[in-house]
Amino acid sequence: MNDEVRFIEVGPRDGLQNEEQILDVAERIEMIESLVEAGARDIEIGSFVHPRWVPQMKGTDEVARGLEHQEGLRYWALVPNLKGLERAVAAGVDHVAIFMSATEAHNQSNLNRSITESLQALEETARQARAESMTIRAYLSVVFGCPFEGEVDFDVVLDIGEKLLDMGAEHLSLGDTIGAGGPREIRNGCRRALDKFGAKKVALHLHDTQGLALANALVAYEEGIRLFDGAVGGMGGCPYAPGAAGNVASEDLLNLFEHLGASCDLDMDRLCRVAQWLQEEKGFCLGGRYLDYWRANQESD
Ligand code: HMG
Ligand code: MG
Repeated sequence: MNDEVRFIEVGPRDGLQNEEQILDVAERIEMIESLVEAGARDIEIGSFVHPRWVPQMKGTDEVARGLEHQEGLRYWALVPNLKGLERAVAAGVDHVAIFMSATEAHNQSNLNRSITESLQALEETARQARAESMTIRAYLSVVFGCPFEGEVDFDVVLDIGEKLLDMGAEHLSLGDTIGAGGPREIRNGCRRALDKFGAKKVALHLHDTQGLALANALVAYEEGIRLFDGAVGGMGGCPYAPGAAGNVASEDLLNLFEHLGASCDLDMDRLCRVAQWLQEEKGFCLGGRYLDYWRANQESD
């Protein structure tokens, strides 16, 4: 098993979408450009959902148009349906993330659709994305626990996950949307998903509600997960999942993987400077832990 870990930086989407304070287009572009300078190569820059549902993501088209494209750099945007995909195409986005939930109640709350309806809508959306030669990633939410239905049947997760991968998604991101999982559930779930789909097809998307995200990342790494979503500073949550805390902080994950001797192309100092900018200049209250440690060491140098 190789030790190379790849990050998908979701801060400009999953981080910002659940913050009361809204960054304008120029600020979002500045944040994304700083993440590029920190070495991020896969960045979720926003979403094409209904602005009434998630006002923080309004203007994602302008964000996309304002970014410089570079070889090897992938800007992703979340799309819930064909309408979102059309908006992504019009904005020149080449990489889209489709998403749905493993429970009826969360899917209804987040997408106003049943699971069957969402699968149909995403099938159409993915078909069109493939026709546009776009790359697709797929999220499945609440796989380790649902705020409405509690425990989730992992057979259902694997079944829906397979359908999403069959739509042409390059990988499936398993979302612990409300941070309900602990190491035992994460280990079992990752093992089953890796057995079924293989390491190239499975990513892990952790939220740090119980302070278990790093323990969960560790066991997932031990099981063979090599794709991790993280949000700089540990911002965010899900606006349609009551109780969801921020994502695991990218710099916390990077620190963990550096301790494990895994290889990862991100520059810790630059990443922490982005988190510091969000906290000190933009006034966000961040959930990550490593930033304070980094700052204390900067001051003592
Ligand atoms: P709906 O109300 O059922 O939509 O919402 P509809 O199809 O009935 O259409 C109603 C109106 O919305 C129409 O306009 C459509 O054109 C328009 P009207 O004719 O009334 O003027 N519309 C749209 N407008 C802009 N962009 C679109 C779009 N689609 C329809 N894409 C909808 C359905 C999917 C739009 C809504 O439920 C929605 O926007 N949901 C998004 C919720 C969301 O963004 N949640 C957070 C992201 S998921 C997450 O955070 C979890 C994740 O991080 C992983 C994890 O942690 O597990 C990914
Ligand atoms: Mg999330």
